[in-house]
Amino acid sequence: MKKIFRKLFSKNRINLIQKYLSVKNPIILEIGIHKGDFSKKLFEKLKPKKLILVDPWIAYNDLIYQKSWYGNTNNSNQKIQDQYFLDVNKRFEKDRLENKIEIFRKTSDEFFLENKNIFDLIYIDGNHLFEFVKKDIENSLKFINVDGLIVLDDYGLKGWWSDGITKAVKYYEKEKTIRIISRHNIFNYHHQCIIKKI
Ligand SMILES: C[S@@+](CC[C@H](N)C(=O)[O-])C[C@H]1O[C@@H](n2cnc3c(N)ncnc32)[C@H](O)[C@@H]1O
Repeated sequence: MKKIFRKLFSKNRINLIQKYLSVKNPIILEIGIHKGDFSKKLFEKLKPKKLILVDPWIAYNDLIYQKSWYGNTNNSNQKIQDQYFLDVNKRFEKDRLENKIEIFRKTSDEFFLENKNIFDLIYIDGNHLFEFVKKDIENSLKFINVDGLIVLDDYGLKGWWSDGITKAVKYYEKEKTIRIISRHNIFNYHHQCIIKKI
């Protein structure tokens, strides 16, 4: 039932972002890449001046990650993560050579430590646990353009991450450092949360 509802009413992530993104040829950061499927859509549909992709492609051993795509399990181990990294590099080889796409095999924290870019769009889809999402939002607020968008995937989903994304957004809402532009609900079905810096 939930699956049918999602199929019938779920809005397309890219269309949703396009509705609120005012900048043409934006500078985009995507945190959490996996196989690069969404990166490809961001690149093809939004035609960014630059797209930066960040993912450590690490298979973690901790119990908490066992149900995630990056836990060390039968479906995901270090060999598989290494292959994803190679495949993503190959997938975007031409655009990397043209300096339109850059790939960083790092955690988002490590990336932000050395980052000098200011982004028009930051798509947060890395480690979904509360403390990590909280830090991703904190760092994103330092490197987002005045009118830029920060978008969080899997908002309103409990998952193996115990609703860490929704909780992190709530934290900054309370702090009054962000403004919600669009959030998932039953009438606005997309599991995204789009925020702007106040
Ligand atoms: C849900 S997947 C990303 C899916 C992708 N955005 C898409 O829509 O196709 C989550 C990814 O986050 C990565 N990840 C885990 N911890 C991270 C961290 N600290 N920083 C950046 N990425 C992380 C994982 O390796 C995994 O590939």
